[in-house]
Amino acid sequence: MNKKIVTGLIASALLLIGAATAVMALPPPVPQSLGIYDAKFTSFTRNECLVCHISDAVLVPRHHNLINTKGLACLDCHTMVPDGTGGFTFADFRTCSNCHKASPHHTTAKAAAQDCKFCHGSFIDNPLDGHYIPTYGVSSITPMKNGRQVTDPSGNIVTVQGCVACHQPNAAAIDPTTNLPRAISSNADTHHGTGIGAVATATTPAGIGKCEWCHNFNNPGLEIRQCESCHGVKSLHNIQLKSATGTVTPGSELAGFGHIGNNWDCQGCHWSWYGNAATNPATAIVPSLQGQSAYTLAANKAASLTLTGASFTNVGGDSVTYNPSVTISNDTFSATLTPASFTDSEIQVNVPALLEGTYNLTVIKEGVKSNLAKLVVFPELAIKTAVMASKNTVTITGSGFGMVPPADYNSGMGVFADTTQARILSWSPTKIVASSRAFATGAEVTVKALNGSVSKIVLAVAKKTR
Ligand code: HEC
Ligand code: HEC
Ligand code: HEC
Ligand code: HEC
Ligand code: HEC
Ligand code: HEC
Ligand code: HEC
Ligand code: HEC
Repeated sequence: MNKKIVTGLIASALLLIGAATAVMALPPPVPQSLGIYDAKFTSFTRNECLVCHISDAVLVPRHHNLINTKGLACLDCHTMVPDGTGGFTFADFRTCSNCHKASPHHTTAKAAAQDCKFCHGSFIDNPLDGHYIPTYGVSSITPMKNGRQVTDPSGNIVTVQGCVACHQPNAAAIDPTTNLPRAISSNADTHHGTGIGAVATATTPAGIGKCEWCHNFNNPGLEIRQCESCHGVKSLHNIQLKSATGTVTPGSELAGFGHIGNNWDCQGCHWSWYGNAATNPATAIVPSLQGQSAYTLAANKAASLTLTGASFTNVGGDSVTYNPSVTISNDTFSATLTPASFTDSEIQVNVPALLEGTYNLTVIKEGVKSNLAKLVVFPELAIKTAVMASKNTVTITGSGFGMVPPADYNSGMGVFADTTQARILSWSPTKIVASSRAFATGAEVTVKALNGSVSKIVLAVAKKTR
């Protein structure tokens, strides 16, 4: 037997797991199917960023607006690098972490106000929301933030009774989404990586928070209670994945899939705590939202949306079944939708006709909500009429033409007669007037807008009827 460090567990549980599943090894490390991958900021992929930042259609103009608002030049962002044959090529401008080197989220107004749940959902509690934290004395079953080390009956050194019993770093981990190698970081690295408590240096500003948001340096015996300002009794006991078919059921899952699935899980944090399903504190387990069939929808048009994720439905320790709803909201609109159908990992929901705008999308179950995702609603791009108003001028009416093409750089947007770009005389979301010698009655005119492109045959002006 090598000196591999494994979590403490009772021999019977080991046998049970070995027999029942070859699907997944027991933690550590944890499987990384819920919440944010426990990794360094620079390892996040473009797709993970697009969960909330939607698509090129949103991000390209958002970056290019900075040309006007912050006075940035093309080459500030699009740097040229030698291509190896004496020429130059553009440095990769699609990989977010090439330019965004440190977490930008933990300097936002929401983070400064300690509204961490706005993005992280109910995987945590908010420090200032008044949630329950025990005040009774600590005992032999109180979890420790890093646990303690013991030698198990087989002679392995194992960590028990704390987060590190399961949440350990692992340089050789495989990302379950991409199947590619991706290191899992330590709890210190994931939390310090946010920069929240960072001390100012000559080149970097101070973080928005303090070390004391997470640490109680004065009272080492009570350190877990400071962690509880975000990882309270409520959120910790409602984190669970499904281990087999059916509905997530506390106490009846295989060990190692979360916090409340199995007596073994309870022991991971509490060690000698002999929990059972009857006293299980779980209610609605936090749902995790991982994918959407669409991130953009057409305005004023009902649509159906498929959401994928985990723990969308569960049975609580109170034997109540908790089922999901979907919320769509922004500053002026809010709706809670009942899904047309759902399973543990998939929701089908009919979205009503929405006005143009950016919406927050979450899955909720009684009292808990998933991580945040976004939905952008664009006016549907359509040409109703295209008529020759005078010799070289075409008037186009319709919807969804969106923002005026920028005048100071070639965005690819505009009005085209075949490949010839026309001069824009006026442009509103519903009406464009453009002029070009290439326009002809009976030929196509194409509008390229932020949200796509659309064509129509140009008609002659209708003869006035008497
Ligand atoms: C018995 C093993 C075990 C112990 C001990 C444990 N966890 Fe977990 N935890 C898990 C598993 C399994 C998951 C689901 C992991 C996944 O798929 O990412 C999880 C998920 C989480 C999540 C949500 C997903 C994420 O990565 O953010 C949070 C938050 C969390 N744990 C916090 C804690 C804290 C705080 C402690 C210590 C007080 C702790 N855990 C101790 C097994 C454990
Ligand atoms: C604007 C959205 C947003 C807000 C608000 C926010 N976070 Fe985050 N957080 C993220 C995103 C996105 C990531 C992953 C990328 C990154 O680090 O920026 C993350 C990562 C983290 C991680 C590392 C998680 C891991 O598994 O690697 C921690 C810890 C964390 N945030 C703590 C906080 C705390 C504490 C607050 C409140 C003070 C907070 N966050 C507020 C969006 C947010
Ligand atoms: C959980 C949702 C979420 C994820 C995932 C996410 N972001 Fe964000 N991000 C936000 C929100 C919310 C804001 C604040 C509002 C805004 O500016 O859109 C934000 C703001 C930003 C900002 C502007 C910060 C500022 O100072 O205003 C940058 C840059 C950014 N994100 C980059 C990224 C990158 C790069 C990734 C991938 C590593 C990523 N985001 C992943 C939600 C997210
Ligand atoms: C603030 C940084 C920034 C500046 C300044 C900037 N760009 Fe970009 N540009 C980007 C990013 C980032 C992307 C890719 C975004 C994505 O993948 O979603 C991009 C994409 C592009 C694309 C591909 C368009 C597409 O639809 O995918 C072109 C072409 C382009 N930029 C040209 C320019 C030109 C020309 C300028 C100067 C007039 C400029 N950019 C200034 C950041 C910038
Ligand atoms: C080529 C460099 C580059 C790449 C690649 C890049 N960005 Fe940016 N981004 C910038 C710069 C520069 C800014 C402006 C930063 C500032 O103002 O401090 C910016 C700003 C932003 C903002 C805030 C814009 C605003 O309205 O203030 C968001 C959100 C953002 N980036 C997200 C992303 C995401 C998501 C990706 C990957 C899909 C990405 N960026 C890729 C250079 C880049
Ligand atoms: C967002 C929460 C958070 C903030 C803010 C934070 N820490 Fe930590 N820190 C953690 C976590 C989680 C760990 C891992 C558990 C532990 O050892 O306490 C950790 C670990 C540590 C450790 C143990 C050694 C190590 O790095 O593994 C020290 C020392 C420490 N932090 C000091 C600080 C100081 C000093 C600050 C402010 C400059 C700070 N932390 C800010 C969450 C945080
Ligand atoms: C100010 C809020 C806050 C405090 C205090 C805090 N954390 Fe966290 N913690 C988070 C957030 C946010 C996440 C990421 C949840 C997600 O995946 O979306 C997280 C995730 C975790 C996880 C899951 C693994 C990971 O890195 O995502 C562990 C374990 C953990 N925290 C341990 C600790 C410990 C130990 C302490 C006390 C030393 C602590 N945390 C204090 C906000 C906090
Ligand atoms: C991720 C770590 C973790 C896991 C796993 C876990 N607990 Fe807890 N539990 C805690 C923490 C932290 C506290 C608060 C301890 C304190 O501050 O004294 C707590 C408190 C409790 C309490 C006291 C609640 C109160 O009202 O004061 C009970 C009962 C409990 N846990 C039962 C269980 C049972 C049963 C299981 C397994 C089904 C379990 N726990 C799994 C971390 C965990």
